[in-house]
Amino acid sequence: MSIAKKEYKRVTVKSLVDMKKNGEKISMLTAYDYSMAKIVDAAQVDVILVGDSASNVMAGHETTLPITLDQMIYHASSVIRAIDRALVVVDLPFGSYQSDPKEALRSAIRIMKESGAHAVKLEGGAEIKESVKRILAAGIPVMGHLGLTPQSIYKFGTYTVRAKEEEEAEKLMDDAKLLEKLGCFGLVLEKIPAKLTKKVSEKLTIPTIGIGGGKHADGQVLVVHDLLGMTHEFNPRFLRRYMNLYEEMGNAISNYVSDVKSQDFPNDDEQY
Ligand code: KIV
Repeated sequence: MSIAKKEYKRVTVKSLVDMKKNGEKISMLTAYDYSMAKIVDAAQVDVILVGDSASNVMAGHETTLPITLDQMIYHASSVIRAIDRALVVVDLPFGSYQSDPKEALRSAIRIMKESGAHAVKLEGGAEIKESVKRILAAGIPVMGHLGLTPQSIYKFGTYTVRAKEEEEAEKLMDDAKLLEKLGCFGLVLEKIPAKLTKKVSEKLTIPTIGIGGGKHADGQVLVVHDLLGMTHEFNPRFLRRYMNLYEEMGNAISNYVSDVKSQDFPNDDEQY
């Protein structure tokens, strides 16, 4: 269905709530560095997430747990230097907010001050209520993240769909309502049944952004390396690949190697 889109010269947290009200779906994509963020922003993506998935795709860790606050600030400041339009949200990494609300606020302030980001994202519901309150009270916009929360992967044990059972679905709905009541401006719903995403999205006035949450979310988010097919070993059902960059880049680089070896590169026109 095509919706007449309002022009947003700069996307703000308020624009996202407006988009939901107007029935315009929100596009969100990760970026972790300047060059990629330039492309993503120029393509009019509404929200750029400097996700702690940088731990996987940029640093090669198995989980998101090892990435540090300093490393997130480094990625976020590179992204901020690239953007003209998108709202930039930065993940508070594991270990930077769970122990107490004062630490959570200190971490959020460091992200905002040292990177120039526009908002932070935290994983969890009632258990992080006091931290969310404190960060919001300092004037920092907060996005929530429920469902599959990768920072808790060792508690879950697997990356399978969450909240399929009634009890977990009810807790997720309660957490979603709580995060909205506290003042979060949006909510990521990761890998939950489409029906539950629909229920939550209809209940809340703030936008929901799905990843593996189905078509009823108010927006969608993907990891940019997955969308472009730079990663190729990760094939969840929710992922639509728009390119096969793994193959295309590999071919381009092999061609370069053979041109160097055969002395075809550089040629007479490619030298001074
Ligand atoms: O870190 C990340 O990329 C995320 C998305 C999966 C939502 O949190």
